[in-house]
Amino acid sequence: MLEIRRASMDDLTHLMDLYSSLTDEDLYMRFFVYHKVSEEEVRRILTQEDHITILACRDGKVVGEGSLYDNGEFSLVVRREHRRLGIGTRIVSSLISLAKEKGLPRVIFYTLPNNYPMIAIGRKLGFSLKFDDEEVVGSRAP
Ligand SMILES: CC(C)(COP(=O)(O)OP(=O)(O)OC[C@H]1O[C@@H](n2cnc3c(N)ncnc32)[C@H](O)[C@@H]1OP(=O)(O)O)[C@@H](O)C(=O)NCCC(=O)NCCS
Repeated sequence: MLEIRRASMDDLTHLMDLYSSLTDEDLYMRFFVYHKVSEEEVRRILTQEDHITILACRDGKVVGEGSLYDNGEFSLVVRREHRRLGIGTRIVSSLISLAKEKGLPRVIFYTLPNNYPMIAIGRKLGFSLKFDDEEVVGSRAP
């Protein structure tokens, strides 16, 4: 069974393990930078107050992560071997609910035009999608 819960400092090693399992391309899609995520950055993700981070867990293992920022932007990642099982969709649905609870007017994601899984999630969950050569912007009211 899949559990979605808020991340805490106790998840430092789980999150390090998730990020270190990713390819450079995954890290770029998630963070828009090409480099391995340091422990310092993971600490920041878990402590900074400008966003909420949630985790998707299956059998005690962290299989995905999503973060929603105060301006409505969000990003997420799912462990490679757990993709195409609906976990990304569940994470985005949970982020939309969180945005609603917080009273945010919009949720927004930015991705590359070749990120078919993210575009598929956006379509499925009713985001309006704006395409140009360099990026796709998805947005909707929560
Ligand atoms: C985007 C991402 C989170 C999706 O996670 P996931 O758990 O595989 O997502 P889901 O299983 O919920 O849905 C994926 C959808 O994409 C579709 N899909 C997957 N690969 C596809 C492809 N190559 N072409 C077209 N559609 C594709 C699936 O069919 C599914 O749609 P469906 O439910 O209508 O069948 C995951 O691919 C990932 O971590 N990518 C790297 C980081 C990233 O891109 N983050 C997004 C930042 S905004």
